[in-house]
Amino acid sequence: MNPQELGRAEDIERILIDEKVIEKRLDAMAEQIDREFPSGPIVALILLKGALVFAADLLRRLPRPLDIECLKVASYHGGTESSGVVTFLDHALPDVQGRHVLLLDDILDTGRTLQAVTQRLLSEGCAAVHTAVLLAKDRTREAEIDADYVGFVIGDEFVVGYGLDYKGRYRNLPFVGVLKSDIATPH
Ligand code: XMP
Repeated sequence: MNPQELGRAEDIERILIDEKVIEKRLDAMAEQIDREFPSGPIVALILLKGALVFAADLLRRLPRPLDIECLKVASYHGGTESSGVVTFLDHALPDVQGRHVLLLDDILDTGRTLQAVTQRLLSEGCAAVHTAVLLAKDRTREAEIDADYVGFVIGDEFVVGYGLDYKGRYRNLPFVGVLKSDIATPH
């Protein structure tokens, strides 16, 4: 693949959270989740694609048995503005009946995604949904939901890296950064 298409660190205006800081925070988050999470069967449900990198790093720090499942949802369609509609791209949900779900997403923004998935899981009979996000934007939510575990609270600006993308790029950057304004154009 053309390196241009992978997303380049030079496109980043500034690094918001660097790799070392993320790693340290994940140690603390995993410790807190392990301490607080009820005993018994856990399903860790990763929302694709954004939470992939965060979940891989967080779940490897959790010293307990768990099932790992993925769910593909979309609320952005490539740009920097949420479409306002959460679409389930998978037809079937994993079996969550009577189980505690640790729902992992990259970022809590309007809140619509976590709310839609939480409601769907509860309607499928799961015992409880516990939510963990790497980032939470400091803004008024459009859906009444908060995450149980938050890595970092950030300002209301569009970020990429560490799993988060702009038009499919920059997910592989090892840090969270803000794109240069001439590259990020809302549409
Ligand atoms: P909501 O608005 O439903 O948003 O809480 C959650 C989903 O929207 C995407 N999102 C972002 N993606 N940079 C991104 O790359 C951002 O700043 C951003 N804000 C929201 C993301 O997919 C998340 O799961």
